[in-house]
Amino acid sequence: MAILLPGGAGYIGSHTAVELLNSGKDIVIIDNFSNSKPEVLDKIKTITGKDFKFYEIDYKDKEALDKVFSENYIEAVINFAGYKAVGESVQKPIEYYENNIGGCLALLDVMRKYNCKKFIFSSSATVYGDPEVIPITEECKVGGTTNPYGTTKLFIEQILKDVYASDNTMDICILRYFNPVGAHSSGLIGEEPQGIPNNLMPYVVRVAAGILPELSVFGDDYDTPDGTGVRDYIHVVDLAKGHVKALEKIDKENQGLYIYNLGTGTGYSVLDMVKAFENATGKEVKYKITGRRAGDIATCYADPKKAEEELGWVAEKTLEDMCKDSWNYIQTNK
Ligand code: UD1
Repeated sequence: MAILLPGGAGYIGSHTAVELLNSGKDIVIIDNFSNSKPEVLDKIKTITGKDFKFYEIDYKDKEALDKVFSENYIEAVINFAGYKAVGESVQKPIEYYENNIGGCLALLDVMRKYNCKKFIFSSSATVYGDPEVIPITEECKVGGTTNPYGTTKLFIEQILKDVYASDNTMDICILRYFNPVGAHSSGLIGEEPQGIPNNLMPYVVRVAAGILPELSVFGDDYDTPDGTGVRDYIHVVDLAKGHVKALEKIDKENQGLYIYNLGTGTGYSVLDMVKAFENATGKEVKYKITGRRAGDIATCYADPKKAEEELGWVAEKTLEDMCKDSWNYIQTNK
């Protein structure tokens, strides 16, 4: 019996692979390396001292998926595969809808054939659009996404609700991630954005390392304590552990559709992040204030109580850990 991880060589997938192996689970990874590298697989093995099967395939390829299911007893799927660059999704909506939604449908179809009933999906706080209340609970209304990437998450959530309605012997868990940052403490695996990063932490790290000249802070006139955007940054290892807990939950409950926010419940501004990074690493982060970025909202942080009560999960790592581990990763992999 194994857990299938499409996209398991990627940022969140690789950290979850480590936590699953450490908790004694067998895994099978599939990945087409569209945004990850083969070396990550060996690094997962080095960190855990455990082996696993790997297939280099595209998760939209049903024939290839069929082979994976026929050669392994897959008891659950945790789907990390998908394109995730917000800006690129605006330029390439067809590719985003085709890949993210097409891949997910292919997985669900092959799962149905093999009577595999457990599915965990990487969703995002982006499905809340401009949130109606802060902190955000799972009951807040979804919609109003500002880019095709976010809309793929929203649409897949709806597809999963429809699939569950058609077969309520399934166990489906939707995990809405807030802002994942940090890296494994070994420095072996972490985030590898292609080209110039769009997200805050990878950008900050590259400014501190002298790879990029300075950070642009996108707006200081938001309705927040210091005027800059506030987000719920969560250490990727905490996030990975949330998946192990979600799997335990659906194993125990048997049949249901569950939705959880995975965040810390604390919001930090862009300038808080700059200061925290400087304090944690002793490096200077040069920045300038520029105009707002289109599609950004002022404040977004989670109410993580439901995950604590129902999964027994809380984020444990500090902002200092997030900064230090992000820095350690780039130092090790520069
Ligand atoms: C973005 C995506 C979200 C996705 C998430 C993945 C949007 C609208 N949302 O979230 O869908 O799930 O990434 O982690 O794009 N900032 C700067 N300068 C920078 C970069 C960012 O000031 O160079 C600010 C932003 O304005 C924001 C905060 O830092 O206030 C966080 O930005 P980012 O890391 O890009 O994440 P989100 O925009 O929250």
